Amino acid sequence: MCGIIGYVGERLAAPILLAGLKRMEYRGYDSSGMALMEPAGLLFEKSAGKISRLENVLADREFVSKIGIAHTRWATHGEPTDLNAHPHLDCKGKIALVHNGIIENYASLRELLKSRGHMFRTDTDTEILCHLVEEYYDGDLVKAVQLALRQVDGTYGIAVMSKDSPGEIVAARLGSPLVVGRGNKENFVASDVSAILQHTNQVVYLEDGEMAVIRQDGFEVTTIENVKVTPQIKEVEWTLEQIEKGGFAHFMLKEIFEQPTTIKNATRGRLDVKGATARLNGIKPHLDELGALKRIIITACGTSWHAAMIGEYMIEAQARIPVEVEYASEFRYRAPIIEPGTLVFVISQSGETTDTQAAMREAQRKGATVLGICNVVGSTIARESDGGVYIHAGPEIGVASTKAFTSQITVLSLISLMLGRMRDMSFERGTEMINEIIRIPQKVQRILDKNEEIKAIANRFHQRNNFLYLGRGYNFPVALEGALKLKEISYIHAEGYPAAEMKHGPIALIDETVPTVVIALQDSVYGKVLSNIQEIKARKGPVIAVATEGDTKIYDYVDHVITVPETMEPLTPLLSIIPLQLLAYHMAVLRGCDVDQPRNLAKSVTVE
Ligand code: G6P
Repeated sequence: MCGIIGYVGERLAAPILLAGLKRMEYRGYDSSGMALMEPAGLLFEKSAGKISRLENVLADREFVSKIGIAHTRWATHGEPTDLNAHPHLDCKGKIALVHNGIIENYASLRELLKSRGHMFRTDTDTEILCHLVEEYYDGDLVKAVQLALRQVDGTYGIAVMSKDSPGEIVAARLGSPLVVGRGNKENFVASDVSAILQHTNQVVYLEDGEMAVIRQDGFEVTTIENVKVTPQIKEVEWTLEQIEKGGFAHFMLKEIFEQPTTIKNATRGRLDVKGATARLNGIKPHLDELGALKRIIITACGTSWHAAMIGEYMIEAQARIPVEVEYASEFRYRAPIIEPGTLVFVISQSGETTDTQAAMREAQRKGATVLGICNVVGSTIARESDGGVYIHAGPEIGVASTKAFTSQITVLSLISLMLGRMRDMSFERGTEMINEIIRIPQKVQRILDKNEEIKAIANRFHQRNNFLYLGRGYNFPVALEGALKLKEISYIHAEGYPAAEMKHGPIALIDETVPTVVIALQDSVYGKVLSNIQEIKARKGPVIAVATEGDTKIYDYVDHVITVPETMEPLTPLLSIIPLQLLAYHMAVLRGCDVDQPRNLAKSVTVE
């Protein structure tokens, strides 16, 4: 949510900043801007709309600055206009600042600053930071930023430059990620490593309450209280190729097609064939605790919450441990009961979702061990959780999550296998599960090979305005996720429901104009799902079924069938979700939607 990049070095800053913004456009894309230190003073340019608009504005101009900051925005306070885009400036136009996050006490600070003669130009909460820094500035930018930040309630990742302190960028974080990148005679700051990966893979992840002063020849890290910190340089493993489209029309399509590989990566080195179990090093130190577990809570947001629900079904069935799944935004404010024997998992692709972070901290405060299931290495949740498992899906750029979802489910299947084997699960069942997990990637590939078939179905239905998605058991959360994918990127209204529950309300919506997508696999609830399909057909609703290969009966019940290979029931979501991802993708493309950057959404939601 919003992206920050800052550069100081020997090269021209503007092209580096622009390229970095483009890499981060998936994080926020309603307006953007840049500030450069030109000989004539601070120059800044801002533009509502996509980054290409800023690029056009800058195209014919020549800059000499070798230091600058830039931002791509996802509006919270104030509409996405040219004026409200970042950077923001102080009264004299000497201090430029970009900000991710929310300043909660901005209204009272604004009044105070106005009474001291500061003039405000925008509706944003961010602008008060520029004036606060101005208020405290006496030639020492670092000190002024420190004093300003001590007045602020809320969250921030910021980068600041001042005309009177040339050659340095001051950055600070509280609740909104920032990394410092170390280059050769140049240094960077960014909210997202993908923005700077082209130039360096040596980074320092700032912790909450830390700040950095970045110059061409180096950087220093301190706390906001001015205590020196020794920076830990980490090497980013992601490659440049991984954050590019590689011939696909969209990142989302590329990421859907990566799933045979990403699922395999999530299991790599983790299958213990001899012990018929999973080996998860990140949770090994907690094995004693896992043995004495009485209850598990899984908390997450969005697609990760759907994965959590599948995890609940898996862990309860395989390991017989009670599991509760809760939206992180609810969990954090609801005085959840955490007794001895309760273990909490938090699931987050980005590892930065504010509500999920807060839920993690609330659980830790109440004494729980919290294990993270994250994709982004070095992210806040990955660092602050007590242990956990990386899903190793590689960078996910498409705003609608796809490969992270299947990797999360894969990891949850490994956790359920491990917990199951520590309890009643037999060696045979463990072995069967391992063998089936190994076969999943090539089964996913077989579904991907049906892309054209799925596109043809999308072609028939993309003009409809409402969809229902139904599933039961393990595939109820898949129905929720299928519906979420469709609404996120095509803006078609779609509701996911447990198939049987449909008759308690959504059935009222069904007529010949409302298609229903039903996951009707030959599993333990197959017969029940067929009955639900008949209830829809009796009301003339068109039905698209995701069915098991070799099921000939299903064709008598529904209008369109997409088949997926057979697998053991707990693993079926890994297959049944693939056609739903492709269906949503093609419908969105056919409707002319911006698949990778859908309106109003952001990849990583770092505000409440
Ligand atoms: C945003 C994204 C979703 C994602 C959710 C949770 O809403 O658009 O795709 O599922 O955040 O994100 P996380 O990074 O915590 O999994």
